[in-house]
Amino acid sequence: MKPISKVVHEIPASGIRRFFDIVSQMKDVVSLGVGEPDFDTPWRITEACIYALEHGHTHYTSNYGLLELRKAIADYFVRTEGLEYNPENQILVTVGVSEGMDLAMRAILNPGDEVIIPEPSFVAYKPCISFAGGVPVVVCSYMENGFAVLPEQIEAAITSKTKAIWLSYPTNPTGAVAPREILQKIVDLACKHDLYIISDEIYDRLTYDGQHTCVPMLPGAYERTILLNGFSKAYAMTGWRIGYAAGNPDIIEAMMKVHQYTMMCAPITAQVAAVEAIKHGYEDSEAMIEEYGQRRRVIVKGLNDAGLKCLMPGGAFYAFPSIKDTGLSSDEFAERLLFEEKVAVVPGSAFGECGEGHIRCSYATSIDKIEMAVERIGRFVSKLK
Ligand SMILES: Cc1ncc(COP(=O)(O)O)c(C=O)c1O
Repeated sequence: MKPISKVVHEIPASGIRRFFDIVSQMKDVVSLGVGEPDFDTPWRITEACIYALEHGHTHYTSNYGLLELRKAIADYFVRTEGLEYNPENQILVTVGVSEGMDLAMRAILNPGDEVIIPEPSFVAYKPCISFAGGVPVVVCSYMENGFAVLPEQIEAAITSKTKAIWLSYPTNPTGAVAPREILQKIVDLACKHDLYIISDEIYDRLTYDGQHTCVPMLPGAYERTILLNGFSKAYAMTGWRIGYAAGNPDIIEAMMKVHQYTMMCAPITAQVAAVEAIKHGYEDSEAMIEEYGQRRRVIVKGLNDAGLKCLMPGGAFYAFPSIKDTGLSSDEFAERLLFEEKVAVVPGSAFGECGEGHIRCSYATSIDKIEMAVERIGRFVSKLK
């Protein structure tokens, strides 16, 4: 057989999957590995979907998505940010933020175009850029700067081929929230060099210390930003596969073209559920966010007490402690911790080379399990000394 695509061949499979596969074969593992809410989708959301199915809502929707959902998303931005998107042509409903990322890249990139991404970051960004023929250009963010990338680093990475800067705050895996001033300086650079900004704000609601900065609200950003967001995290709806992109009508139309021929539309079941979530699910999601906030303090204290230096994450549901003092690589640490103490974490290297020296610990799990996990981590670390 002839070889498969070179680009696809050269991209390694996600490091997170490998760990999940091992964990699924083991008994009594306490997992801090998962990147999804441990809560079930609030019942009112599921029920809205069941009701719609019972009433025959089983057909295709507009390629852009149900207008009712697009209007509800537009209202959400007016209500929360004072930000205006026309639901007719500035919002595209996607199959999760995952599809939105792919569409954004395919809509804007020509072969060889460069996209700057701060790492450590979500595992799919680099592959999405490469699949679309682009070239990912990595800049590292460090614990000393609270894992926020510095504008100087972005500026140094800009070349004549740069097409876009990819931002994602709060960040998976670090939980970092970039200060508004830093984001504004990055937006200023994008304006100066005429670059697109991709802003994945899937954790916007999961911000614990103060207000989330919505990038398109920053002066200069609106026209050039593709805002990606979705329902997976704030409403515990990962399996529904529903997200959206918002931005300039020309870019949204370009993304819609790809979506139209490859996906047709997001599933109507998930779209109906998302309408219920965004219109009436606020309190349910606030209760979950409140719970994450409490778990965050427990895990960060537990990790620091266990001897792993860990910053207080400003958002998302991940802690990203340093394991550098143990002398182990993040792969070795995660593997030995799993086999010796039955705690699953994700090696920082899964999120790019800059993630080496750290592990990702998700606190989307109960306080009891977090306490058990940090106790075991403490025992493991003390054995290494
Ligand atoms: C930063 C980030 N963006 C996007 C996604 C994917 O989201 P979705 O379920 O909407 O495809 C994830 C999932 O973990 C994520 O952490």
